[in-house]
Amino acid sequence: MTLRLAEPIARHSIASDHPVQLATPLLEVHPGLLLKFESDNPGGSHKVRAARFIVRSAIASGDIVPGHTTVIEKTGGNFGFGLALACQAHNVPVELAVGLEFSAVKRRCLELFGARLIGLDMLERGATPREVVEWHLEQANELERHYFYTDQFHNPASVAAHELETGPEIAMQLKAWPEVKKLTFVSCAGTGASLTGIATALKHAGYAVDVVLVEPQGCDSRNGIFTSHKLEGMSVGVVPPFLDWNLINEVRTVSHEEAMETRQTLARTLGFIAGNTAAACLTVAHTLARSASCEHKVLSLMYDHGLWYLR
Ligand SMILES: Cc1ncc(COP(=O)(O)O)c(C=O)c1O
Repeated sequence: MTLRLAEPIARHSIASDHPVQLATPLLEVHPGLLLKFESDNPGGSHKVRAARFIVRSAIASGDIVPGHTTVIEKTGGNFGFGLALACQAHNVPVELAVGLEFSAVKRRCLELFGARLIGLDMLERGATPREVVEWHLEQANELERHYFYTDQFHNPASVAAHELETGPEIAMQLKAWPEVKKLTFVSCAGTGASLTGIATALKHAGYAVDVVLVEPQGCDSRNGIFTSHKLEGMSVGVVPPFLDWNLINEVRTVSHEEAMETRQTLARTLGFIAGNTAAACLTVAHTLARSASCEHKVLSLMYDHGLWYLR
């Protein structure tokens, strides 16, 4: 089997902050296994798409007024990078409460992208990032801020980002595999926005889509059961608010060791370092790709790059 790469396409979506952007690559990295390199997005992950949609829809509704409003959020992860970029594009300042567990490199990178990190002293005294945000919202007058709290776990614009942008982008790129009729989408869920948005869009595009939800060993998001784990971004301790459980055909769990083994194999065979959640999904996707065919491919996401997670 020859491996194929979908042609890069221009992104002309309403979510773009710039007139033309290249889509992230979709590659057949292993026979039968298609991988969408969301790590190639500005900000390094799929979360920039949700951040852009949230910021743009808040500007459209008047909740964010550039030159007047400051965006606030509790995140030190990928959503923070996306939000910093989305806000920069509209000249809107952004303040982030970043938990102390995030590395110094991540904090410095967030600042490099234009975010102001807030509440360090509160965090050092034991406050949670949520408490830091709540305190700032309460003190908005004294701080002379007009805050807009993006609140990614309660903002449905993130599903729209993937249903209207990422999913259709994949569907367009799938034309490079014209025989494909069926997809097994192997995905994880934090908010559940990317899983729900992409699967819905691919179904609308006419594909038969089975969805396999990947969870860290010991977690069962549907029933609100979570263990502490290192696969940062998936199964984050709350039932994913935007996960449409009707889309899920199967749930599979992966141990940290299995995910790390997959990451090592991918680094040695393909030369890229998958992020932790991508490595977990690829552990499952790689196994399922054994039963793929010309008409049926397995699809997964390279959510972000693995360099962040090497210690
Ligand atoms: C690395 C990584 N993988 C997966 C996810 C889950 O994405 P979603 O929130 O769209 O479910 C996230 C979310 O922050 C993430 O950062």
